[in-house]
Amino acid sequence: MMMERNMRYSSGGGMSCCLSVLAALCLSAAAVARGQLTDCFYNYGCPQAASIVKARVSDAMKAEARMGASLLRLHFHDCFVNGCDGSILLDGSDSEKLAAPNLNSARGFEVVDAIKADLEKACPGVVSCADCVLALAAKYGVLLSGGPDYGVLLGRRDGLVANQSGANSNLPSPFEPISNITRKFANVGLNTNDVVVLSGGHTIGRARCVLFSNRLSNFSATDSVDPTLDASLASSLQALCQGGDGNQTAALDAGSPDAFDNHYYQNLLSQRGLLSSDQGLFSSADGVATTKALVQAYGASTQRFFSEFGKSMVKMGNISPLTGSAGQIRKNCRAVN
Ligand code: HEM
Ligand SMILES: *[C@@H]1O[C@H](CO)[C@@H](O)[C@H](O)[C@H]1NC(C)=O
Ligand SMILES: *[C@@H]1O[C@H](CO)[C@@H](O)[C@H](O)[C@H]1NC(C)=O
Ligand SMILES: *[C@@H]1O[C@H](CO)[C@@H](O)[C@H](O)[C@H]1NC(C)=O
Ligand SMILES: *[C@@H]1O[C@H](CO)[C@@H](O)[C@H](O)[C@H]1NC(C)=O
Repeated sequence: MMMERNMRYSSGGGMSCCLSVLAALCLSAAAVARGQLTDCFYNYGCPQAASIVKARVSDAMKAEARMGASLLRLHFHDCFVNGCDGSILLDGSDSEKLAAPNLNSARGFEVVDAIKADLEKACPGVVSCADCVLALAAKYGVLLSGGPDYGVLLGRRDGLVANQSGANSNLPSPFEPISNITRKFANVGLNTNDVVVLSGGHTIGRARCVLFSNRLSNFSATDSVDPTLDASLASSLQALCQGGDGNQTAALDAGSPDAFDNHYYQNLLSQRGLLSSDQGLFSSADGVATTKALVQAYGASTQRFFSEFGKSMVKMGNISPLTGSAGQIRKNCRAVN
């Protein structure tokens, strides 16, 4: 089993492993009984789940290429709060959507609703919100942006509560030093390599001026702009943000905003990272010898970044999943049954 997975990372085989001969090796039921996720979970109850999600994500990205990024980020923001349990999708007064890192920021909820509606039509009550969003929509958001085809694991069930204070405390802020961010990742079992690799998700998507304008003005007594920010990028960002309400957006990877590639790391090598927490992986004085070396390695090799990204996504997707009879399969991702 382990060997099959490793082979698939290098060959990029994706869900096709679940077909034919390998189906016998997946031992889905046994793995689930042990409380583990498996790559063949829906072969039994909803073999078309992955293709339904892929089609919906593809439609959404044709309307707006950025949506792939937004879905990837939802996966991350869900997993860091009470594990990967779809809690970010719940509406209500304790909604995680109202927490600072998500408010006016997390997006893609309507796409999630559309995916879930299709899945309920095809296989009522079978496919969890945690899986169809966390694992599959993020996977296809990455893949359809040109990223790696990693072997996603499935079988998560949906949580029963949202945790707004957990979202406020567990999710990293771009204004924190790298050592604080690394600690937040460590709290959910992710290491420094995972921090650098998963930050590479910022090769797609956008960020609002309020989240990087800290680098543009009055940075210190001697520099009006963050000295680790490329001067020409700084002036174009100043022009973008000036006089606005802070909601204007810039690409996290200006050279190829919607392409999943390793330019994020190349940007950091030339001081073209957008957020403090991006550029800090290469330039901050905050004990970043390890992250700096990793940025150089991934900037030099797309293949190495892609294979590590798949592994770190699987690790992130394994944060405290609800399996067996824990939680439920929500009918509507916005509310518990
Ligand atoms: C390392 C710590 C991280 C910090 C401090 C951070 C911070 C941010 C911020 C501030 C934004 C812009 C939000 C806005 O404009 O409202 C953003 C966007 C984004 N983040 Fe992160 N992030 C981190 C890690 C990650 C990880 C691990 C992933 C996924 C693997 C990720 C994926 C994304 C994506 C794809 C976007 C763009 C979303 C869109 O365009 O809708 N980030 N992040
Ligand atoms: C919310 O998240 C925090 C931080 O992870 C955790 O300590 C707390 O137990 C969670 N609360 C609920 C109700 O799940
Ligand atoms: C970083 O973590 C330390 C220790 O928990 C905390 O005191 C500090 O406020 C954090 N810094 C930021 C900018 O959040
Ligand atoms: C920058 O600092 C100057 C001098 O202290 C001040 O007049 C100006 O309002 C500051 N600008 C911003 C954007 O904070
Ligand atoms: C950004 O847009 C939101 C939603 O329209 C609004 O509430 C907020 O005041 C705007 N400005 C900032 C700085 O977030």
